[in-house]
Amino acid sequence: MSGSGKTLRLGVAGLGTVGGGLLKLIERQAELRLPGKLEVVAVSARNKNRNRGVDISKFRWVDDPVELALADDIDVVVELVGGSDGPAKRTVEAALRSGKSVVSANKALIAEHGMEIAALAEKHETHLLFEAAVAGAIPIVRAVKNSLSGVIVSRVSGILNGTCNYILSEMLRTGAAYETVLAEAQRLGYAESDPFLDVSGGDAAHKVLILAAIAFGAQPDFTQVQVEGIDKIEAMDITLANKFDYRIKLVAEAYRAGSSVRCRVAPVLVSRDHPLASVNGPLNAVVVEGEPVGRLTFTGPGAGSGPTAAAVMGDLARLFEGPATPPLGKPSRELAAIITAANSATDQGSFFIGAKLADKPGMFAALTEELAEAGVSIDKLIQESAGDTGAAPVAIMTHPCPRASVEKALAKIAALAITADEPRLLRIETRA
Ligand SMILES: NC(=O)c1ccc[n+]([C@@H]2O[C@H](COP(=O)([O-])OP(=O)(O)OC[C@H]3O[C@@H](n4cnc5c(N)ncnc54)[C@H](OP(=O)(O)O)[C@@H]3O)[C@@H](O)[C@H]2O)c1
Repeated sequence: MSGSGKTLRLGVAGLGTVGGGLLKLIERQAELRLPGKLEVVAVSARNKNRNRGVDISKFRWVDDPVELALADDIDVVVELVGGSDGPAKRTVEAALRSGKSVVSANKALIAEHGMEIAALAEKHETHLLFEAAVAGAIPIVRAVKNSLSGVIVSRVSGILNGTCNYILSEMLRTGAAYETVLAEAQRLGYAESDPFLDVSGGDAAHKVLILAAIAFGAQPDFTQVQVEGIDKIEAMDITLANKFDYRIKLVAEAYRAGSSVRCRVAPVLVSRDHPLASVNGPLNAVVVEGEPVGRLTFTGPGAGSGPTAAAVMGDLARLFEGPATPPLGKPSRELAAIITAANSATDQGSFFIGAKLADKPGMFAALTEELAEAGVSIDKLIQESAGDTGAAPVAIMTHPCPRASVEKALAKIAALAITADEPRLLRIETRA
């Protein structure tokens, strides 16, 4: 911090969607309510000549973002490059070692290297803030870390990937196939040209792991997060779940299970009156549950240039407030190694099965027989007309049972070629 102590001198690494949005917002800082002034000193990206819709000629340009971390005239490095390793990690580490504050939107970096980076920030007594890494404009990191530190959290769950939520919402609204809606999402800029990290559930897994670490005082361990994406979901699953009065949502959740914390991401059926059911399009939502507050729900835009830049700006405002606190809430050496993957086959609950019956007589009876033989009792069932395809869509909701029993039945159903496609097995959220 220079001179009067009221100006923070920034080095901004990454001038893409978020970095560009941040520069635009900084230009409007007179309209904001910051406790001091922000001055961009230097910037870095790959291509110096790319038009970013904002004049960057007044800032010093550096090719290697690590130079920002080493410059004497910079107080804060804002890392908006992305990626769990490579230039983002090198820049953040160099900045913390130089005693500079770091603000980042990089969930992959924090989820995969959170322990070592938090320890580095603590060692050098510097700020490492990453509000924008989780749920965009929703101020959930700070809420869980500070405002809700008086809450004994039992569960954090939510819709943490706007791309997946847009795709699932549009599949319901239009009845179109996954591939068609994904292509449209890419055209509208809701999905990346390489959407793998989003649709595989990996992005939501990074975010929920960060929330889990803060909410439960746990060491973030990405290898323990169970992740399933939305790429196998068929339009018929969504349509038939809707007929049961349920929505299919990609739900990310972390919750206490005995002495450990489970962290998982999967497409799940939620009933129409569940708080997550009405969160549609690219919106995000986070539900925090605990004693003695009950349930708190936060909703808002989870991505995009402006909303994410606003979250970065919130972290920059925090830098004026005082000394750094541990990035993950508790000091990293006190975080417990409690995030552990459980074998999902041991899950109990009600399940949804969606499939198309093979175009042969007796398949419906064969399907229900195999389920009965495995001890799976059917709660609700819809069979639709096969139409021209010859393969009749069928959807089943089971009564509570072990997941292993449903998996056993589905293995038998596959071996007997009772269905024309690979059945989808989804958990049903029975908690209201
Ligand atoms: N986009 C969102 O809505 C959103 C929301 C929440 C969090 N985030 C996170 O914010 C971060 C940035 O995301 P983004 O969407 O803004 O990404 P982006 O549009 O792809 O921008 C990335 C920026 O990093 C620069 N860059 C890439 N490699 C570099 C290198 N080796 N050296 C210097 N600069 C390099 C790029 O330079 P060029 O422009 O020259 O190619 C670009 O300016 C990521 O961690 C992301 O997960 C994004």
